[in-house]
Amino acid sequence: MKRTAIAPSNIAFIKYWGKKDESLRLPANASISMNLSDLLTTTTVEFDQSLESDTISFNGKNETATAERVRKHLNRVRKLAGITTKAKVVTENNFPSGTGLSSSASGYAALSVAAAAAAGLDLSEKELSILARQGSGSACRSIPDGFVQWRDGDSSETSYAVSLFAPDHWDIVDVVGVVSTSPKETSSSEGQKIADSSPFYTTRLKHIDGKIQRMRTILEAKELKAFGELVEDEALELHAIYITSHPSLIYLLPGSLKVMHAVKRWRAEGLQVYFTVNTGQDIHLLCQKKDATKVVKLLEEIPEVQKTIVNEPARGARLTEKHLF
Ligand code: PMV
Repeated sequence: MKRTAIAPSNIAFIKYWGKKDESLRLPANASISMNLSDLLTTTTVEFDQSLESDTISFNGKNETATAERVRKHLNRVRKLAGITTKAKVVTENNFPSGTGLSSSASGYAALSVAAAAAAGLDLSEKELSILARQGSGSACRSIPDGFVQWRDGDSSETSYAVSLFAPDHWDIVDVVGVVSTSPKETSSSEGQKIADSSPFYTTRLKHIDGKIQRMRTILEAKELKAFGELVEDEALELHAIYITSHPSLIYLLPGSLKVMHAVKRWRAEGLQVYFTVNTGQDIHLLCQKKDATKVVKLLEEIPEVQKTIVNEPARGARLTEKHLF
């Protein structure tokens, strides 16, 4: 049976960094994110008795770099379904990968939903989130709708994401500024392994539960100023951990810093806009929907910004009939 899924990437407001169990991808802390309407992965999976090995194509090319990780994920699905059949996987992203836009989140969410359905499994949202988490941690947050919390948990069964608010809870937007399409040198999976080499990491973990609680309260009340200040504080804390890890992880490029300085300037001039950034160089700007056009225009005036993408809060991963083969 051939099944196709479409999944959004997500932007974490309170981030996941570091694991308490490497093989199960159990995070050191809980995280909160929003699904992004215009950063999407589509994946078609078919288990086919005539195949001798899994074939994986990514954006029109045979995939080699991440093929082993995808195969491992297919093995998790085969184990759950009690089958050994090999699969054909075709996947497409509508945005650059490896630049800090969390393509592994949308990628493993789409793969989990498509592969589980293609294998004949009927998994609940919780079970799909647990499955996606094992492919890429942040992928578990791309399964439920809207604004989402990943409960860190202390076992595979207790570490999954739930929706806190539906996509229409708050009409904020996330405007992405792509400052370079070059993939980062160290992937987040690799970077996470050295999180505790930063002297500041233990301090971060000590106060992270407080940040989660604060973010939940702010989201519920839809307080943009408090939200933006907490989001920026969190992004800068994450990058402080990166640059003080051993070896150091320097993801921000001159273009990223230029955008960050510009955001502070625009704010001083009265525009309510805030930045966040993940493991990479591309910047996410958060503002009210009514200010999106203005933010796009200002971003496009910065020479290093190659592209902008406006995202609204979105639904999670779902099946579609638009197959890729
Ligand atoms: O799920 P991974 O391994 O791609 O790591 C995601 C890490 C961050 O994007 C920096 C934070 C997050 O919670 O999305």
